[in-house]
Amino acid sequence: MTIREFQLERYFARWEFTAPYLLSASDCETVSVGELLNLANVPLSELGDLRLGYTESQGDPGLRTTIADFYSRVTPDGVVVTNAPEEAIFLVMWALLNPGDRVVVQTPCYQSLFELAHYRGCDVFPWPMLETDDGWRMDLDHLADLLTEDTRLLVINVPHNPTGYLPTTSDFDEILELAHRRSLWLLCDEMYRGLEYDLADRLPSACDRYPRAISLWGMSKTFGLAGLRIGWLATQDRRLMQSLLRLKDYTTICSSAPSEFLAHVALKQAEAIIQRNLGIIQTNLAHVREFMTRRRGTFAWREPKAGPIAFGRLRKGSAAAFCEEVVRGSGVMLVPSTLFDFGDSHLRWGLGRLNFREALSVLDEHLGTNLKNLS
Ligand SMILES: Cc1ncc(COP(=O)(O)O)c(C=O)c1O
Repeated sequence: MTIREFQLERYFARWEFTAPYLLSASDCETVSVGELLNLANVPLSELGDLRLGYTESQGDPGLRTTIADFYSRVTPDGVVVTNAPEEAIFLVMWALLNPGDRVVVQTPCYQSLFELAHYRGCDVFPWPMLETDDGWRMDLDHLADLLTEDTRLLVINVPHNPTGYLPTTSDFDEILELAHRRSLWLLCDEMYRGLEYDLADRLPSACDRYPRAISLWGMSKTFGLAGLRIGWLATQDRRLMQSLLRLKDYTTICSSAPSEFLAHVALKQAEAIIQRNLGIIQTNLAHVREFMTRRRGTFAWREPKAGPIAFGRLRKGSAAAFCEEVVRGSGVMLVPSTLFDFGDSHLRWGLGRLNFREALSVLDEHLGTNLKNLS
């Protein structure tokens, strides 16, 4: 069996470095190595002195200690640093699943959360988000029906890519309770954690609340440092950690020393970086709200609750055709919902970049002259 193409990644491979304006990026604006070291008051010579040998397979102990501080019930031994969050998803799916296992995955989703379980030979059942006039919501009754006695793994993503949805604490508790009742494993992708618009909405990490949960986080989105390719998994379950580590010897063995060093520098400044990125998102939200009000005949806006991503509806026509025309005609790249196997009517908006306003006005101008051909 060959694995299906990763649609979103192939689309980015086509446009990310050729289209001048990215209006659908899921990460926050990055910084240079110099800017990061400056922010943390770390002299460049510290990076210069770093030795470039192999590193510890589970991840640098100091880095894991700093990571464990983000959780209340996970110790540094319960953390494994991975070469990109993407590797972490692979390790979890291979450590936990066998062909024929039943897996339930919240959709639409970052494709590997669904695809890798499918490629492993599992029976994968989507748990789709519901769209209402008031925005996105979760159907917990549907989830309860999907989680049969023989379900092995539930995969969720909060805050959510692509909708920007964040459940309430009581809905999140109910999901954990459903998992607990059936003793199933829970992979909670928390890649956008920290970017809640209202701090009061921040949820606990799943791994702190449920012993069979594995939380995924990393440097790419919240911190805008995707180029470090550093992610991690956190869990209270010792046996699962042993299985993850056994597998990691067959994927990448250990992470890159400069990436671990810089990730550690960044995590010690987590609050400052998060505030800077939330500021960019809030500014861009104001621009996009104004744009969506003016262009409400073309788009139905769905306000996100956290993270740098929103998922709105194109009122008429094919989202895929719209995106193709827009990127060719104006250089503005938008992502259509077809890449998430979620119909052909939605567009993902990326709110984390500094040139968002400029990109939006290029799109606006393009729509002004071409809208008739686009609908
Ligand atoms: C929800 C989610 N999980 C995991 C990943 C993978 O992150 P990375 O590309 O840094 O490996 C992404 C990337 O877009 C994502 O959106």
